[in-house]
Amino acid sequence: MGVVVVAAGSGTRLGAERPKAFVEVVGTTILERAVAGVLEAAVDELVVVVPEDLVAEATGRVDPLRPEGVDVTVVAGGAERTDSVAAGLAALSDAVSVVLVHDAARCLTPVVVFERVLAALAAGAAGAIPGVPVVDTIKVVDAGGVITATPLRDSLRAVQTPQGFDRALLTAAHASGAAATDDAALVEALGHDVIVVEGDALGLKITTVDDLARAERLLSDH
Ligand code: C5P
Repeated sequence: MGVVVVAAGSGTRLGAERPKAFVEVVGTTILERAVAGVLEAAVDELVVVVPEDLVAEATGRVDPLRPEGVDVTVVAGGAERTDSVAAGLAALSDAVSVVLVHDAARCLTPVVVFERVLAALAAGAAGAIPGVPVVDTIKVVDAGGVITATPLRDSLRAVQTPQGFDRALLTAAHASGAAATDDAALVEALGHDVIVVEGDALGLKITTVDDLARAERLLSDH
């Protein structure tokens, strides 16, 4: 199984001096926490995608975490998340038939979430992603802010990563060149069923300063 960890975002919403993955949470970078978390799962190959000017630094940070027998490669990402995922997919060897794509920013994701996604794929799903029920009522609005729909809350899930797919299918989905905020959307667009498995509150994406503070609190609680 191969994993692509995308960590090439600038993280402007975090307002830190360094790109988000290189910001520390309780003394360890988001990147190193994410990679260590991924490596708790049954990984054969790991590709880490970072900003071009930080490939050397990232290599130095992830190399000491590499278990024997696991291939770890660090490559440069692109302008959009979709570009970074595509760069990561291209760096996996031909031996990889199942791939998980994971946001480095979700660096506290427990290994059980990886296992749920992998179990769904092993059971025959073309794609599987973690999700949690939403607590707010969600509205669809037009450009003028007028509500055009109110989806039934029970039918909604806030989705997380790792998102897992048949590797050939995900590569085909990316070949469309479309941009999307997650990989499942590209696979759904090809008409394939992607199933949602149970996510975890620890799968939060560190985006803002408040998220960083929350991650720090969660770590001190564990
Ligand atoms: O921007 P957003 O928070 O949605 O990013 C989610 C993940 O995608 C982050 O881990 C970020 O580093 C990564 N990303 C990337 N390349 C980009 C933009 C985002 O690898 N160009």
